[in-house]
Amino acid sequence: MIKPDAVRAGNIGNILQMVNQAGFRIVAMKYLHITKTQAEKFYEVHKERPFYGELTEFMSSGPIVAAILEKDNAVSDFRKLIGATNPAQAEEGTIRKLYAASVGENAVHGSDSDENAAIEGNFFFSGLEQF
Ligand code: CMP
Repeated sequence: MIKPDAVRAGNIGNILQMVNQAGFRIVAMKYLHITKTQAEKFYEVHKERPFYGELTEFMSSGPIVAAILEKDNAVSDFRKLIGATNPAQAEEGTIRKLYAASVGENAVHGSDSDENAAIEGNFFFSGLEQF
């Protein structure tokens, strides 16, 4: 996902260009504004965390870009491309180093496993929307 902060800052194009140049194929893509309830469902694994309210409020604060990306080693390569969750710890040249402001408003989300990538992809896209 490209998160609301990066969308508001006008960084959709820059981020998609980095994703393309890193060799990912776009399987599905959508521009949408999710509700707080939908954000709560998406981030259900974090519901006991102290930042759950803030996270779901933020993720429903404006439009996002959701996408399914394909590549060999996609999960680990995408996490390398986006950088550490906290942009202060992200390496130079990563998406979060370039475009994220804080651990809460950190520009992009990447799945942490193939299993969660499938769950998260199916949250946003039907089979008919995946190419
Ligand atoms: P993301 O990759 O979307 O997965 C969970 C998100 O929770 C994470 O990126 C951060 O944006 C957010 N998050 C993690 N830790 C904190 C924190 N301490 N305060 C606010 N948000 C956080």
